[in-house]
Amino acid sequence: MYRRQIAGLVPPACVHEFREQDAMSEPVVARKSPFKVDVEQGKAYFWCACGRSASQPFCDGSHKGTGLAPVRYMAEASKTVFFCGCKASAKKPLCDGTHNRV
Ligand code: FES
Repeated sequence: MYRRQIAGLVPPACVHEFREQDAMSEPVVARKSPFKVDVEQGKAYFWCACGRSASQPFCDGSHKGTGLAPVRYMAEASKTVFFCGCKASAKKPLCDGTHNRV
């Protein structure tokens, strides 16, 4: 895209739109630590992948228009889990310690 801009093939206004779309498709850091949650066996949880939900760590629909989607987590047992808050974990939706490098 930027090469096309340099070559004069994409008007500057369009490049601005592309950059906004690129930014919208990236998750934002909700917080740089995990969310401790007591989950219930057999219950499904929908983890916010975009970082924009006001109901962290769960989805509230704020991802609409981002191209991102929540991640379903099915609790196989009643226990305490740590959902990722930085949205960069390689083990989404759970924390893997990546937040220490964000
Ligand atoms: S909060 Fe994202 S890896 Fe720990």
